[in-house]
Amino acid sequence: MSEVYNERIDKIFSALGLLSRKDCSRAAKAGRITVNGTTEKSPARKVTQDDTLCLDGERVVYSKYMYILLNKPQGYVCAAEDGRYPTVFELLPKNFANLGLFTVGRLDMNTTGVLIITNDGALSHALLSPKNKVYKTYRAKTKFPVSENDVALAAQGIALDEGENAMPAFITLVEDSVSDVKVCEGKFHLIKRIFLALHNQVRELERIDFAGIGCSDLEYGEWRFLEEEELQLLKNAVLG
Ligand code: URA
Repeated sequence: MSEVYNERIDKIFSALGLLSRKDCSRAAKAGRITVNGTTEKSPARKVTQDDTLCLDGERVVYSKYMYILLNKPQGYVCAAEDGRYPTVFELLPKNFANLGLFTVGRLDMNTTGVLIITNDGALSHALLSPKNKVYKTYRAKTKFPVSENDVALAAQGIALDEGENAMPAFITLVEDSVSDVKVCEGKFHLIKRIFLALHNQVRELERIDFAGIGCSDLEYGEWRFLEEEELQLLKNAVLG
């Protein structure tokens, strides 16, 4: 998770969505770029985390890893490519395509809400490891009301289909057929399978929280970079 880098200026501007490679070359020639206070005419010049890079006098802050928060809409799949359905990556700028981004876990095509997208493999792996107990909360609208007995059963770790057991899942009732389910593992279709085991059925599913991060400030399909404090929440969540 170290943030050491040595990158070309044009790659940095392109990764941040500030300038395409071509525009960066023009900007450099026009004297709009400085490194450590000196005008830099070559877009190929490499800079490190210790250099001060500016565009038009404004400091450009770059980090090797990108951490993106997307409010996933329905109808998009969490995959690099899909022959049939649009992927969540199509909701990001085109110039992010070659940065090695992936989703931290997957949401089903019709699940909405908090989706973290990054190219930090170590952090992603740690966030998904059940042993780190990183909690995610899903708001589920179900076919039938959820009872206190269901809450108690899920909290014990309910037996799922195909002989698998879920880890304890913590359900809070919101309305009769709406509840929040807090889990720390990412089994395939986990929430839907928990409700099936409770003889119920999920009608709508939205992830409303990932380790303390929500996305109610974003419309469906909108994204932004994680704030520094949000990234810290993720890093703290995996510190044993
Ligand atoms: N559980 C599900 O059933 N679906 C999701 O998309 C996420 C968790």
